[in-house]
Amino acid sequence: MLSPAPAAPLSLADLIAGLRAAGEDTRLRILALLADGELTVTDLTDVLGQSQPRVSRHLKLLAEAGLIERSREGAWAFFRIADRGLSGSLARMLLQRVDPSDAVLQVDRERLAAVRLQRAESAQAYFAKHAAEWDKIRSLHAPESVVEAAIRTVIGSKPIDSVLDLGTGTGRMIALFAPFARRLVGIDASHAMLAVARSNFEREAVKGVELKQGDLYALPVERNAFDLVILHQVLHFLDDPSRAIREAVQALRPGGRILLVDFAPHENEFFREALAHRRLGFEAEQVSEWLGDCGLEEIRVDRIEPPHIKAKSGASTDQQLTVLIVTARDPRRLLADEGSLA
Ligand SMILES: C[S@@+](CC[C@H](N)C(=O)[O-])C[C@H]1O[C@@H](n2cnc3c(N)ncnc32)[C@H](O)[C@@H]1O
Repeated sequence: MLSPAPAAPLSLADLIAGLRAAGEDTRLRILALLADGELTVTDLTDVLGQSQPRVSRHLKLLAEAGLIERSREGAWAFFRIADRGLSGSLARMLLQRVDPSDAVLQVDRERLAAVRLQRAESAQAYFAKHAAEWDKIRSLHAPESVVEAAIRTVIGSKPIDSVLDLGTGTGRMIALFAPFARRLVGIDASHAMLAVARSNFEREAVKGVELKQGDLYALPVERNAFDLVILHQVLHFLDDPSRAIREAVQALRPGGRILLVDFAPHENEFFREALAHRRLGFEAEQVSEWLGDCGLEEIRVDRIEPPHIKAKSGASTDQQLTVLIVTARDPRRLLADEGSLA
């Protein structure tokens, strides 16, 4: 992820509150542990060897001082270094000054690695249960590397301030954009998928991602806040894709772009029973119309045809899948810019 812009100064009151909250053994250890990614209270109690009420109390004080943020995921709560607000930058600045070879912090890190390993094993067990079905789909369309290269070409390689990935699943799109983006947020309804994404980010050293459990029809994020909003292989699961698109567009900043990746119409009826797909692909014209109805402009459609893979996969040509990549832009800033030029 790109480094955040230099932080504005804190008020005296906020600075004192932040330093007070951080200036205690366990709380500084908690901040150091969160520097590497989100953790639950249970993770922290396992690592710190302290009771849950004590750890919760420390977390409450750190959150009240704005140094950390909390997000709910069903019955679980995840804590992370605050991304917004000035106190998060204070937390990051303090952590830069801590000696990473400190013996206490080293033991904490080793215990955290053990906790993560356990978590990764159960997340991957869930993933493995579905892997065969996903492999079947993959075998019917162009390789993911080809699709991802096309996505990167369409989006371009300029840094992007904030990316929102809807139905993030394993978090692959976030990992793809992580080198180019400052802020990365992933939303998924499934707690199990979020666990898989978390474990993938840890393995691939993708840091600072905000993962939230939530519904695509009622997004738990700010409006007008993201430069790129992604729906990658998600629309075909939804009973009302146009409503999900309308909701996604609300999250766009003026001038921001939406990226939709899904299949063109196909006849693999078995996707419905075996894979819970509701829609057997989409006409590019239909998706473009939905985007146009939301007021988006610069609608662009790219198609990636399936390779000739009959011999290898045994799939007949009519089973094969064309991948559609559709992008569009929120015109608000463009109009404002034109106005300022006039
Ligand atoms: C096939 S996965 C795609 C994951 C990811 N975008 C990718 O391409 O690798 C679809 C994801 O959408 C999520 N999903 C489906 N319906 C949803 C909804 N209404 N709200 C939030 N997430 C949803 C599922 O839990 C699943 O993780």
